[in-house]
Parts: sequence; C-alpha cells; structure tokens
Amino acid sequence: MKKHLQFIGMGAGLLVLFFAFVPGMMDDEIPKDVNEVLMTSCYGCHNNDGKNKDAVEALNFDQWNEYRVTKKVGLLDKIKEVVEEDKMPPSKFVEQQPDKKPTEVQKELITDWTKEASDALMGAK
Ligand code: HEC
Repeated sequence: MKKHLQFIGMGAGLLVLFFAFVPGMMDDEIPKDVNEVLMTSCYGCHNNDGKNKDAVEALNFDQWNEYRVTKKVGLLDKIKEVVEEDKMPPSKFVEQQPDKKPTEVQKELITDWTKEASDALMGAK
C-alpha cells in the first residue's frame, strides 16, 4: 500500500513537471519549419535580445505565447504584409547579411503560416 502511494506521488510529481515545461515548448502557432526561417531572418531583431527598441516593441517572438489573441491576429497580418512586400527583413540588413534574406519558398512558408494561424486563432476565439 505504501509503495502504491509512492508511485502515485511520483506520478503526480512528473505530471507537474510535464505541465510546467510543455507550455513553454509548445509554440503552438509556430511550426518548426516556419520557426527556422523566423530564427534566421527575424529573431535577431525581434526577440528579447533585439537592440532596436522599436523592433522589439513592434514584435517580440519571445513574447509570442503571451500575446493576446487579437494582438497575435493583428501581428500575423502585419507579418504577412511586410514579408510579401519585402519590407522585412530591412534592406540594410539584407545587404549586410544576404544569406539571411528569406527565399521565395521561405517567404511563402511564412505567409501561408500567418494565414493558417490567423484562421485557427479566429476559430478558437
Ligand atoms: C535588422 C533588424 C530587423 C530584422 C532582421 C527584422 N526586422 Fe522587423 N522591424 C525592425 C524594426 C527596426 C522595426 C520597427 C520600425 C519599422 O516598422 O520599420 C520592425 C518592425 C516590424 C513589424 C511591424 C511593422 C508595422 O508596420 O507595424 C513587423 C510585423 C516585422 N518587423 C516583422 C519582421 C519579420 C517577419 C522579419 C523577418 C522576416 C523581420 N521583421 C526582420 C527590424 C528588423
């Protein structure tokens, strides 16, 4: 009987650990392939380590999971627009680091994601 309780205790402990870590790991709306492109082309400026305050304020991927649904939907729309129109990453950045310019395929990956994620969020509201 005591052994039994120990197991239950351990199970509960593991469950707590699981739920403590999983939400951080589940960047629910950002699939891995999209995330890889964002990491290369966008994260440098749009995360907690970004040097330009305007950039971080406009969009911070480290905060993505904390943004409210309406904010996310608005940002997804903006992301789609800036990527489609080659406004982001900024031309100066692309000149300096041409290898970080997203390819047409990568751009499409991002814009497809923005649409899907936005639809999913609207449905979930
Ligand atoms: C070299 C730094 C840099 C990189 C790399 C970069 N951005 Fe930006 N981004 C900025 C700055 C600075 C601003 C704020 C000023 C502005 O809007 O131009 C900004 C603003 C934005 C905005 C808000 C625009 C608006 O009209 O409100 C979005 C959305 C955005 N970036 C998306 C992206 C995406 C997506 C990528 C990658 C494909 C990216 N950025 C890469 C610097 C960067």
